[in-house]
Amino acid sequence: MPSPGERVSAPPAQPAGARRLPCTTAVRAADLLRRAREHERAGCTLEALGCYRDAIAEAGRTAEWAIEAEALRRLAVLHHHRSAHAEAREACERSFEIATLNGDRILAAEALNVRAGFAIEHGDIEGARATFLQALELGGASAEIRARIEQNLGVLANVRGLLDEALAHYERALEACRLAGNEHGCALAYHNLGMISADREMWDAADRHYDESQAIAERLGDLHLTALCHLNHAEVYVARQQYDEAKRRAEAALAIFDQLGAQLDKTDAYRVIGVVYRETGRPALAESRLRSSIDLASANGMVLCQAESSRELALLYQQLSRNQEALSLLNAAHGLFSGLDARADLVDVGRKVAQLEATFLAVVREWGQSIESSDSYTFGHCERVATYAAAVARGLGLDDAQVTTVRLGAYLHDVGKIRVPHEILNKPGRLTDDEFDVIKLHPVWGIDLLEGVEFPWDIKPIIRWHHEKYDGTGYPDRLRGDEIPLHAMIIGIVDVYDALTTTRSYRPAMSQETALAQMEQCRGWWRPDVYAAFRLALHALERAAASGADAAAPPPAAVRDRAA
Ligand SMILES: [Fe+2]
Ligand SMILES: [Fe+2]
Repeated sequence: MPSPGERVSAPPAQPAGARRLPCTTAVRAADLLRRAREHERAGCTLEALGCYRDAIAEAGRTAEWAIEAEALRRLAVLHHHRSAHAEAREACERSFEIATLNGDRILAAEALNVRAGFAIEHGDIEGARATFLQALELGGASAEIRARIEQNLGVLANVRGLLDEALAHYERALEACRLAGNEHGCALAYHNLGMISADREMWDAADRHYDESQAIAERLGDLHLTALCHLNHAEVYVARQQYDEAKRRAEAALAIFDQLGAQLDKTDAYRVIGVVYRETGRPALAESRLRSSIDLASANGMVLCQAESSRELALLYQQLSRNQEALSLLNAAHGLFSGLDARADLVDVGRKVAQLEATFLAVVREWGQSIESSDSYTFGHCERVATYAAAVARGLGLDDAQVTTVRLGAYLHDVGKIRVPHEILNKPGRLTDDEFDVIKLHPVWGIDLLEGVEFPWDIKPIIRWHHEKYDGTGYPDRLRGDEIPLHAMIIGIVDVYDALTTTRSYRPAMSQETALAQMEQCRGWWRPDVYAAFRLALHALERAAASGADAAAPPPAAVRDRAA
């Protein structure tokens, strides 16, 4: 699910200034403001823009600063929806200055509320939080604005992954909106409660909240909120695998966003439609919609949306066995998160990065397994190598990122064997020297296959050098000693162990004792600390297996790994 922070529009302005207007002079500017609001609600964006500008000019001329400040703030929100960020910021700042200059704490707080909303959508979470608190201090006496700030603090907590805190803010916002008779505020609160419920997979509650929100939004003629309800509700239907209803709602949302020129929201609509096509077996349409989402998000600097849609497209490529493309996309998405992390360290990117990395691992793992089965290795070699190697890596004190590197390298270490002729890989007797020379090309072929695919983790050295030996007798480059990267040596040692303890085409599996005795004879092949960590890890995995713990290595199955 996308972060709720991406979906909630910049906080809507409220007609806070109307009561302060002297009725003799306020008529024209106030009328223009009202007309602008009507156009905006009806989705007539250009007309709304014109009326807001006229209202601002007229209010400036007649010194009706309250109307001027309010029209500026509403114009700012409209600009923001149209991705005119510089204009949005400028209008919002002018609104704040005019309100402050005239000592109107409420209108000043309203402008800050909008400014903070922009900051959220641009990933400046710390700035947003500080601005909301400043707004609360200025305008907290008003139940109306307090409700809205609670709403936005809820969004902020949501973005940070603090779901309980977000829920509490939304509930307080709903209560305050009811007290203040703010129906539109209630609709927003219901919408956000729907999102929280969906994040917690409470689908029935999500249904109820979205229905409440949409009913009010439609009654009030708020097209943007109506579309948001459709779209977010569509994601609930995707989760329930009710794809027809999901598509109907996402397309309804897209039509409204189109009408409103709401580019940012269209990225989400395209993504949901793409996911529906993917899950219903229409890959060409899925690819087209997901590409639209990525391109639109990229053009608008919406990093989270771009990463999210890239992940969904990568899953489509995985389904289609277009693994290199899937990995390239995932790598690009991973890079986007890194940039975001540096810019706003409080954003809950941790959860999304973890989700992305899990997808990465799943794609690589499935690819590794598909290579095993197509080239008649017995299923399970890569998985066992990954399990042993991760344990050795931990034993050597490597950090989580390095353990992930080793694990991914384990899944793909033999990817180049896809090019080794079937009759050589599966030859029952001993290989000739020429045949073995062909096998020895698989590390380099693996690198060739992954040309153009980059990874956030440095796994290519593992693929190229997992058959190098510490004493310089390995292949393909006859590296020696510490020339061999540590990760490659870890895969190398467990690869040998797994090959010895599983059935080969020309001999049965060795017992663990025999295999370890043979490896003891070849201690010069590995760095002493790697060898020691391997023995310890094996011991620990056995103990875990004996006690039924999850860390156990799977029992050896028949495997043919001649190159080990
Ligand atoms: Fe290999
Ligand atoms: Fe292997």
